[in-house]
Amino acid sequence: MQLGFSSPIHLVESNLDGTFFEKLKKDIYSLRKNDSGSNISNNLGWHSASDLFLKKEETFQKVCTTCASSVASIMKSYDSKFNPDLFDARFSGWINVNPKGGSNILHSHPNSHWSGVLYIQQPTEVDGFSGMIEFVNPNQEGRELAKILPKFGFDNIIRIRPRTGQIVIFPSYVLHSVYPNNSTEDRITIAFNSLLLKKKKT
Ligand SMILES: [Fe+2]
Repeated sequence: MQLGFSSPIHLVESNLDGTFFEKLKKDIYSLRKNDSGSNISNNLGWHSASDLFLKKEETFQKVCTTCASSVASIMKSYDSKFNPDLFDARFSGWINVNPKGGSNILHSHPNSHWSGVLYIQQPTEVDGFSGMIEFVNPNQEGRELAKILPKFGFDNIIRIRPRTGQIVIFPSYVLHSVYPNNSTEDRITIAFNSLLLKKKKT
């Protein structure tokens, strides 16, 4: 079988451990004290400035390299000859802290190749759709096939609730939103965009 058209949603393990996440959370809350946040897709939550990967903290730098290596692995899974050294990979990252009721409205990330989200603190609340991320199939005409072949990529939407430590990576054109956090615990993620520009030969 060859997939003619598909929009993959990758879910990968970051292999970052609990000790690292505790340090990372301290740096996140410390940064929040001096950053009033941006108003983009966030509703009630805090969205930091998008220059996170330019910060000097080693925690943020490590998240950046982890996301970059995950994107490179994904590229290699499509094309084994993919060589990241031939590309100037431009990553921008930002933090989302969604308190109770916090959500993100439907959006995509133009002018990027791959986008992703690292889950740093995902409340264990699992009632309803709390904290789930929902992706919209760019091809909405598959709904009839989805009725007889559900969960084979024809469905109009996919909802997932990644666990702490996982990174969800998807083509930046895929529309997505985040359901309100029904927990009293903050939901914390770092999201990123990546643009892979081929280096000019010298
Ligand atoms: Fe997003």
